[in-house]
Amino acid sequence: MTAKKIICVIGATGNQGGSVARRFLQDPRFKVRGVTRDKTSAASQELVALGAEMVNADLDNLESLKAAFKGANVIFSVTQYWEPFMRPDCREQAKQQGISCRKFAYNVEYQQGKNIADAAATTVDTLDENGFLVSTLSHARKCSNGEYTELYHFDAKADIFPDYVAAKYPPLAAKMSCIQTGYFMTSHKILPNSYFQKLEDGSIQTRFPTSPDKPVPHFAVNEDMGNFTYAVYQMPPGKNYMACGSECSWPDFNALWGKITGAIVSYKQVPFDEMVSDTGDRDLGIETAQMFAYSSCPGYDGGMELLKAEDLRKAGIECPMTTLESYFRSQDWSHILSK
Ligand SMILES: NC(=O)c1ccc[n+]([C@@H]2O[C@H](COP(=O)([O-])OP(=O)(O)OC[C@H]3O[C@@H](n4cnc5c(N)ncnc54)[C@H](OP(=O)(O)O)[C@@H]3O)[C@@H](O)[C@H]2O)c1
Repeated sequence: MTAKKIICVIGATGNQGGSVARRFLQDPRFKVRGVTRDKTSAASQELVALGAEMVNADLDNLESLKAAFKGANVIFSVTQYWEPFMRPDCREQAKQQGISCRKFAYNVEYQQGKNIADAAATTVDTLDENGFLVSTLSHARKCSNGEYTELYHFDAKADIFPDYVAAKYPPLAAKMSCIQTGYFMTSHKILPNSYFQKLEDGSIQTRFPTSPDKPVPHFAVNEDMGNFTYAVYQMPPGKNYMACGSECSWPDFNALWGKITGAIVSYKQVPFDEMVSDTGDRDLGIETAQMFAYSSCPGYDGGMELLKAEDLRKAGIECPMTTLESYFRSQDWSHILSK
């Protein structure tokens, strides 16, 4: 019997990595090694029950990552920009450093991405031809020709994947595929007043700074990140992707939701500051409102040429993806409709 290939999955207890781990666990040729800060957590134990090996490592600790990656044939990388927003200790540190929580989170995500790249480079020889599969976003500062210099959660990813890897580790870059992910279909839970705001007349309004004409990618992260990444693995390396199951403008998003729920709906392109005040938390509002404005021009994908699920299918690779319509139909919306 030939030895199983090892895929080391960062973020295995989260949305993106959890989906990737579960997809590769279905392929008996693979052994899944999940990376977590706590292998005793319920999310870790769930993966162990499915057949994964969980190992403790911290993205802030380079040596722990080198040990976790040792001998891997495939590495899936993801970084979580938003964690410092949810941690009072990080908010406090940002204050002490005299920087915004947004910039603090950029510094953390940038360093974690760099640690991942530095550690992956130490095991580049064991990686498959297309063995470094990284979740990233477009480079807002570059793609907007300097108009957006503080879209931190985009640039913290793109500064490393691909830029740092390409500059510092050409042999690792040669084995890398960059996967951008569309708007998570679940993000209405984070920005409820912007996605589905109930107006005084009882109708529901979607309210973003994005132009009503501009299509954006929508992505069912838990259902599809694994399917998409598994399909990408079967391609030659060095390509850039957008993972999404549907693409449509926000008015079309809102109209489809209205059709399915029976609600009366509208879309309003709101000024930047209005989205910030709809959001409540100022740092979260500024960071996300910039993303919705950037989504008008040059576009959420920065105007890059990216391969999508249909391109993978054209190459003869299976790539099942969840549409916005089926996501909407699968959810219970009564908490919004009955507010
Ligand atoms: N929301 C959207 O619409 C959207 C769209 C596109 C891209 N994104 C991006 O998606 C990313 C978040 O992905 P997600 O939803 O999969 O995150 P998630 O569900 O919050 O999971 C985060 C994962 O990262 C791990 N992790 C965090 N800090 C770590 C550390 N210091 N060391 C080791 N592991 C660590 C966690 O593992 P443990 O806790 O087990 O250690 C967990 O598995 C963000 O960067 C965001 O910008 C979001």
